[in-house]
Amino acid sequence: MARPYVVTEITAATMAPGAGDYGLVRDAAIVVTEGRIAWAGPESDLPSDYVGFDRQTCGGRLVTPALVDCHTHIVHGGNRAREFEMRLNGASYEEIARAGGGIVSTVGDTRGASEAELLASALPRVDALIAQGVGTVEIKSGYGLDTGTELKMLRVARALGQHRPIQVLTSFLGAHAVPAGDDADTYIDRICLPTLEAAHAEGLVDAVDGFCEGIAFDTVQIARVFDKAHALGLPVKLHAEQLSHIGGTALAAKYGALSADHVEYSTEVDAALLADAGTVAVVLPGAFYTIHETQPPPVQAFRDHGVPMAVATDWNPGSSPLGSILLAMNMACTLFRMTPAEALAGTTRNASRALGLLDCGVIAAGMRADLAIWNVSDPAELSYGIGINPLHLRIFGGVF
Ligand code: NIG
Ligand code: FE
Repeated sequence: MARPYVVTEITAATMAPGAGDYGLVRDAAIVVTEGRIAWAGPESDLPSDYVGFDRQTCGGRLVTPALVDCHTHIVHGGNRAREFEMRLNGASYEEIARAGGGIVSTVGDTRGASEAELLASALPRVDALIAQGVGTVEIKSGYGLDTGTELKMLRVARALGQHRPIQVLTSFLGAHAVPAGDDADTYIDRICLPTLEAAHAEGLVDAVDGFCEGIAFDTVQIARVFDKAHALGLPVKLHAEQLSHIGGTALAAKYGALSADHVEYSTEVDAALLADAGTVAVVLPGAFYTIHETQPPPVQAFRDHGVPMAVATDWNPGSSPLGSILLAMNMACTLFRMTPAEALAGTTRNASRALGLLDCGVIAAGMRADLAIWNVSDPAELSYGIGINPLHLRIFGGVF
């Protein structure tokens, strides 16, 4: 185990709840021992026990918790640049999906790829996130829609966490699309639920997700998936109200979901339900932007009701080929009028909560020593820049 050390000459955006926008501590020190934060606070208060530790000096830079990308689909075959072109020639995301394109076309490419090929194509995506200070990434299945391919995707997701210094959380998204030639109910009964059981038995599932939408599954079908998840002791989350309002947000709240994601068409009533359930609203501006959506999520209603908001890339080959968490933060501000402090909380504290994690996303004693050190002095700069990566150093589990 590495020697304990103190990070000094920093401004810390601790993101501690209730400590003001960023929980900012100037002239701070962070003590790291055995991969965890042992102490954090103003350097002038550093307990004498730590004064003799090795020092990692940072020249006055800003330190934040390592970022958390809480919604991605980065394990997949192929790409959909052709559909990007079709949309620019007038077709909508929904029309392309109904014509056999969209998610179902990525299913073909993902089924056709070996585990090694999927791993090789996903590694550069993980590397791109790591290069932007990400310490935890959630990765979904959902481009298999058959047992073998769903398990293959989840195994690759787990393997990514072995090949790279990053914490990977997996979500089983068997209820992502109805495979060509099947009907939704039959697919849920014959494929999705047994596959969830098999994936859980292999230890491949941290949470269960679904796509609740006119072009995917309705609330009754998703409820069956959620019932199975709860029977297995797994938390749930949901792609809800992305293209239309069909009750996904209320369903997510009813099941005490970790998060309801997209939520463009969620209402004020939905916001109240999410608040009561303690469910995080995950906004995904990359998808909003890519599919030329015009209805932004009800950010003000989330604020008014105290719904925690997270921001993620939704990195996927169709609706959000966005490989930058920093750009997602910028877009959340510019497109959804979130504040830079909300955007940073959305990729740290609230993103961790959207994954059910209690020990990251905040700089405080006891948390994982997953930190990002930036070449900026003001935390708003992280959301302000467009296409700029000011990362100086990332610390993962205390290791840099
Ligand atoms: O989060 N909304 C459903 N799922 C993905 C889209 C995936 C795709 O288009 O391949 C999303 O946007
Ligand atoms: Fe998604």
